[in-house]
Amino acid sequence: MRSKLTILKLGGSVVTEKSKPLTPNTKAIKRLAKEIRKADSKPLIIIHGGGSYGHPLAKKYNIMGGFKKYSQRFGFSETHEAMVDLSSLIIRSLLECGIPAFRFAPSSFVITEKGRIRMFDLKALVKALEIDLVPVLYGDVVFDDELGFTILSGDQIAAYLAVKLDAERIIMGLDVDGVYDSDPKRDPSARLLSELSLKDIEKIMERVGGSRAPDVTGGMMGKILELKVAVEYGIDVLIVNALSPNNIYKALIGEKVVGTRIRR
Ligand code: IPE
Repeated sequence: MRSKLTILKLGGSVVTEKSKPLTPNTKAIKRLAKEIRKADSKPLIIIHGGGSYGHPLAKKYNIMGGFKKYSQRFGFSETHEAMVDLSSLIIRSLLECGIPAFRFAPSSFVITEKGRIRMFDLKALVKALEIDLVPVLYGDVVFDDELGFTILSGDQIAAYLAVKLDAERIIMGLDVDGVYDSDPKRDPSARLLSELSLKDIEKIMERVGGSRAPDVTGGMMGKILELKVAVEYGIDVLIVNALSPNNIYKALIGEKVVGTRIRR
């Protein structure tokens, strides 16, 4: 039987002010912590993105492209520290609300190969879930067999964990209402697609644009591509706007909410 595990990804554009470097969206973080507490969905893994903490630094030092210059080592560490700082803010808010959140820094137990997860030591994470801790992971710098190092997105982590841990669902909390038939930031007549199948995904791939702020891991198109493996496996994916109050609460308790549901 499938576990009741929920994987909640909070996009970097939700937990940070994406256009202001190293600026958290404290109001959203605090509100979301309360919503997560109120919903009390168990077991739960939270993954957050980089937003204005991770992406500008990753871009500045070209971490995604791999280890080419000795001086990049400082950028590798700086990018990681920025993610630890953001994660601390989120974890502190969760703890204050009574959620036993616990940090898992992906760079310490994941190795990639050309940017794809090759090794992911799940043992400690599983132990944490067994005692009802809420693991908090994030998009991070990681060591890579081919590239030396690179960036691993929170989306890839979400899909990977969902499949490995046989999750029931992935909830993606973003700064948009869901997937549109064209880019809503450029096209005011864009229509929200409330249900998507795998076949539909292929059709919209070409039409959904990436976000404009520096995002080294691919915007909406990258997200959908990453999540495809989880959908193929039979995991429901729900994309909702986490900047709209109560959406994450409703999504977590299984109440109807504006968004895009992706199913096999
Ligand atoms: C990126 O993680 C992490 C770094 C740049 C270090 P994500 O790709 O999951 O972040 P968002 O949600 O798009 O901001």
